[in-house]
Amino acid sequence: MHSMKALGITLIVVIGVGVIAGAITWAVIATREPAPPPPELIDLDWWQHCVLYQIYPRSFKDSDGNGIGDLKGITSQLEHFVEAGVDAMWMSPIFESPMVDFGYDISNFYEIHHEYGTMEDFDNLLRRAHELGIKVLLDFVPNHASNASEYFIKSEAMETGYEDFFVWADALPDPNNASNRLPPSNWVSQFANSAWEWSDVRQQYYLHQFAIEQPDFNFRNPAVKDEMIKIMKFWLDKGVDGFRVDALPYMMEADPADHGGRYPDDPLSGLAEFKPHQLGYTIPLYTKDLIELYDVVYEWREFIDQYQKDKGGETRVIFSEGYANVSMTMLYYGNEDGDIGAHFPFNFDFIRELSDESTARDFAYTVLRWLTYMPAGAVPNWQTGNHDNNRAPSRFRINMVDGLNSLNLLLPGVAVTYQGEEIGMRDGYVSWEDTVDVEALRRGDNETYLLYSRDPCRTPYHWNNSTNAGFSTGNRTWLPVAKDYPEINLAKQKDDARSHFKVYQTLIKLRKEKALSHGEFLIRALSNRTFYLVRYLRTYDTIVLLFNVADASDTIELSRVLKLELPATVVVSSIHSTRVAGDTIDGENLTLEAGEAIVLRAKPVS
Ligand code: GLC
Ligand code: CA
Repeated sequence: MHSMKALGITLIVVIGVGVIAGAITWAVIATREPAPPPPELIDLDWWQHCVLYQIYPRSFKDSDGNGIGDLKGITSQLEHFVEAGVDAMWMSPIFESPMVDFGYDISNFYEIHHEYGTMEDFDNLLRRAHELGIKVLLDFVPNHASNASEYFIKSEAMETGYEDFFVWADALPDPNNASNRLPPSNWVSQFANSAWEWSDVRQQYYLHQFAIEQPDFNFRNPAVKDEMIKIMKFWLDKGVDGFRVDALPYMMEADPADHGGRYPDDPLSGLAEFKPHQLGYTIPLYTKDLIELYDVVYEWREFIDQYQKDKGGETRVIFSEGYANVSMTMLYYGNEDGDIGAHFPFNFDFIRELSDESTARDFAYTVLRWLTYMPAGAVPNWQTGNHDNNRAPSRFRINMVDGLNSLNLLLPGVAVTYQGEEIGMRDGYVSWEDTVDVEALRRGDNETYLLYSRDPCRTPYHWNNSTNAGFSTGNRTWLPVAKDYPEINLAKQKDDARSHFKVYQTLIKLRKEKALSHGEFLIRALSNRTFYLVRYLRTYDTIVLLFNVADASDTIELSRVLKLELPATVVVSSIHSTRVAGDTIDGENLTLEAGEAIVLRAKPVS
């Protein structure tokens, strides 16, 4: 049995396998250690209530004018995180790569990509960040390598020890044409077309769940698993604080040994709108969320915990990435057999479950859903965007920026910010001619590409209103800078009396209060338009968020907000709100404009 230290309690798991009315019952008895201290005195580990900022290195800050963000650029702007109040950052991949999927196709897991700098630049970044008290996490991409990696080249050439590093399979004969060959199964790639690609060199097909240039590692080969541990250890030895782990649902596929020696076809979805080469034509029964993959994640957690024990120092963490249904997502935390996995799986519910059509009830429900499914004692996390999805103000409405940041930062657990969200950056427009995202290029055409393109959320960061928004001094940037940068940029928002950035800073300061770091919470809809979130803890001030998520105003009755005792004081509000910090709220009714959010401070619950 694994130690459940993260839960702060000792669990004695008694597994009673008794047959009661035909069912097997599992009894889990939890015994607490003697009299726990008041909740607010329990020290949180650094990651348990941190603000985690995602950097997309290519678009953050360019130090040498070639139009591509780099490590020196990031290092030069680390003070931004201190000013904002961010605790930790994770960076999308910075490793050697042909850049087919902008770094998610790694050709050398132990080297820095030349456009981003050198190993020395990385060491400097890490040292400086640590000096400033900022934790640094790297993106760990275990599912696949680049086809330009040594691993793949050796495997394709059948070099000893590398033969089974990837998922290789013979062609199937074409019953209609003897001179033709067919791929081993009907599996569809995330980036369209068959997930199998023919290798002339090896005279076999290899699997790629993503781009053709991203062959999938074979996780049924122990040598691959060993190599993954080696990679993690290399970066941990350098001093990184942990990893964001990429694309986990695709890590394993059905084993031919269980299917009469061949790769089984995924069942067809039967949905008429999809053609055989399109994602959605099949149901990924044999290619996604396989139960075996979780054991690999649990092994990684054991490895990282053991590393911790051996080396001491601050906790190293694993945050896992995967779009899956809620049950399969929760298994990344661990299972009821006592296996422990990631410190948390990223929560994509605000991205995938909510939109500009969502009501206040949808918001409350979405928050409660995660917390309901989450294992007891685990740490939740929240985010409204990342480098794979349209930016929050574009998916929702632009007047919701401060409300979304408030919700994100005031909920219990970890708040994740994708670069630019602290200043309310919106999607940039990227024409078909300027499109570089492999997903858009392979799934779309000049008419449909915006349905798939991840370029709009990846346009360069807006530092100020100078050329290229202060991102680069070059004539050209790798993606166009969004046109709205003169209005939406960090320098302006630092000067303006009210700005998204100032709201963000205030919210992060507020997070330090005990009601937010350690308190209880309630979230309820007051109407279809407005919900409230209350954070409270014994003798500490109660903090209340009121957020109208609709496109029309709403009048609410404050007496219906549980735990809120009036009068209350405004701490922070949306920049378009007529209420400002310090205003007293004492009426029975309150009208909130479309998208308006206000955060109130009230006396402790009695
Ligand atoms: C993850 C990444 C995405 C990438 C894919 C393949 O979903 O976030 O950007 O394309 O994995 O590595
Ligand atoms: Ca895989």
